Parts: sequence; structure tokens; C-alpha cells
Amino acid sequence: MEAIRIVGTGSYVPDTVLTNRELEKTLDTTDEWIVQRTGIRERRIAEPNEAVSDLAEKASAKALEAAGMSPEDIDLIILATITPDTCCPAGANWLQAKLGAKNAVSFDVTAACTGFIFGLSIAEQYLKNGQYDNALVVGAEVLSRTLDWNDRSSCILWGDAAGAAVLKKSEKGAELLSTHIHSDGSAGDKLLLPGGGSATTPISQESVEKGLHRLKMIDANKTFKVAVKQFAESCEEAAAFNGYSISDVDLIIPHQANARILNAFAQRLKVSIEKVFINIDKYGNSSAATVPLALDQAVRSGRIQPGDKIVLTAFGGGLTWGSALVRWH
Ligand code: COA
Repeated sequence: MEAIRIVGTGSYVPDTVLTNRELEKTLDTTDEWIVQRTGIRERRIAEPNEAVSDLAEKASAKALEAAGMSPEDIDLIILATITPDTCCPAGANWLQAKLGAKNAVSFDVTAACTGFIFGLSIAEQYLKNGQYDNALVVGAEVLSRTLDWNDRSSCILWGDAAGAAVLKKSEKGAELLSTHIHSDGSAGDKLLLPGGGSATTPISQESVEKGLHRLKMIDANKTFKVAVKQFAESCEEAAAFNGYSISDVDLIIPHQANARILNAFAQRLKVSIEKVFINIDKYGNSSAATVPLALDQAVRSGRIQPGDKIVLTAFGGGLTWGSALVRWH
């Protein structure tokens, strides 16, 4: 049977750079605090006329080009996002229309920062069972629209970005060896965007004044510790499932939530930090977009070599976490 392979990747970030120094002008914060506590130096902010599907379209076009495929070839589009263009229809449908991918079925997946891994896992099942031959999996966010820019403990973390991967049953390409995904709904209140949902309707002056339409983090310190544990366990799960140990893994491409989380889970796994791909300094946390953005940058910069075993891993709101193991070609 032909393996399921990643045959093209792409990414896009908006042009506008928002540095910590600029945030100092409007917030009670400093560049030093943000760099020391998070590793973030700057992040990208979408233009007012750029929606998630616009960022996703640009990343997808690059992934399709790398795969040597046209939009009409695509069978399935999965867009991982918590900031779709509209609540209805799905952001994936706007993306499908913009790409002209008229033969593809399209839908969104809501799994916050783990969304891209969830998308890979769903695509893997459809390709395995034979219903579709290929899939475009995208992670894209315009989080800047959802932030409370007066909340220094949260707004400094996030950024806007998109990344995409084309999966195909093929003899050539990077083999997707496994995916594992997990949820803990009982801790769903830790990262919350309540406004507009049926628990808080109708949308009102009150819901706006209460900030219910803004992304909120509760108990971020506790979430930090859970994240370290789940990142490490997800990597171990991916390696063990494929008969590898962590030392066999050549590169870990994790969700970029906080550089201290990445350092802590690398220590816990006893892997050198050199084996962990980090770009949070330039882009912050773009939720579902971080993993495919980092993957594309690792591919295009030559950081990934033929034969490398790569673990993609993420943790995020929901709570959700998971991993994928890919053997590069
Ligand atoms: N600038 C300056 N000071 C700040 C600040 C900022 N931007 N944000 C918070 N502070 C202050 C706090 O008010 C607090 O002051 P106090 O001691 O006088 O009360 C102090 O810094 C320490 O705050 P704390 O929240 O303990 O900092 P931290 O080291 O835990 O870092 C996070 C905060 C949010 C960066 C960190 O906890 C984190 O990354 N958590 C996980 C993030 C997460 O959940 N991501 C989503 C899932 S992927």
C-alpha cells in the first residue's frame, strides 16, 4: 500500500512586525520581561483587510506549488483555526473558494494550538480508509483581532500566521508514520474565547463591556506546568509507537507557546535544545499556525535532512495535545 506522505509545505506571515519595544509604549511592560519570561521579541499582525482565509490562501498556494499540484487536484481541505473569518460558514469554505479548489470538501477543526496536529490526524484517517487520495491541512490564525491589548499578561504572547501541508498517498515524500491526539474538556476554561457562543448569547453591549469577545487565559502558571508534561509525553508516545526512543528523533518541531516551556520539556526528555526547532522570538504564539509555519521554515532552510525522523507536537486550549511522527525523504 502506498504510504501517506507530506508532499509539499508552505507558510505565510503578515508584513507588519510588532516589537516588544512598541508594546512598551502602550503597556506596563518591558522588552526585558517579555524576552526573559517568554522568549518572544516580536510578532506579526494581519492587516485590517486580511482574514484567516487570506493568510491560509497564501500559505496553501506555496504548499501546492511545492507539491506540484493545482487547487482542482485537492480532495479535502481541513483548516485548523480558532479565528475563522466567520462563525458560519467555516473558514475552510472561504479558503476553498479563494483557492478555487472546487473539487474539495472543506471544514474547520477547533483544537486551538493543537489544531494542525488534529487536522493531520483527521486527514490521515481519510487517506488510510481510501475515501480521499489527498488533503490540504492548514493552520491559520488572526489572533490579533481577539486580544485585549490592555491585558499585559496575555496580549504580549500572540501573533498572526499561517502554515500548510499537502498530504498524499504516494511513493515519494515525507512519510507520515503516526498521529496521536488527546483532549481534556474539564480544563476547557483555561484558554477561553466565550463571546458569540451559545453559552453567552445574545451578543450585547454587556458581553462586549465584560470582554467576553476577547481571548482569556486563566491560571497560565498552572497551564505552563501541564504543557511541559504533555509536550514531553506526546513526544515519547510518538517515538514509542514507532519502536523508537527519543534519542532516535532528529528534530522536534513543537508548538511555540513559550521558550521556557520548550526548554523545560527538552530537559525533561533529556534531549539537547539544539534538536528543538524554535522561532517564537520572531512570531510569538500563533496557535494552530505555529507547527506548520515552523515545519515549512525547517524544510525550506535545510534544517531537515533526508532520512530525518521528525516529531511534530503541540499542546493548547481545550485542553488538547498530540503529536505526529514523520520520516523525511
Ligand atoms: N510585563 C511585565 N510584567 C508582567 C507581564 C508583562 N507583560 N505579564 C505579567 N507580569 C507580571 C505579573 O503581573 C506578575 O507580577 P506580580 O508578581 O507583581 O503579581 C509577574 O509578572 C509574574 O507573573 P506570572 O504570571 O507568574 O509570570 P510567568 O513567569 O508565569 O509568565 C506567562 C506568564 C503567561 C508568560 C506564562 O505563565 C506562560 O507562558 N504560561 C502558559 C501560556 C499558555 O497557557 N499558553 C496557551 C496554551 S499554549
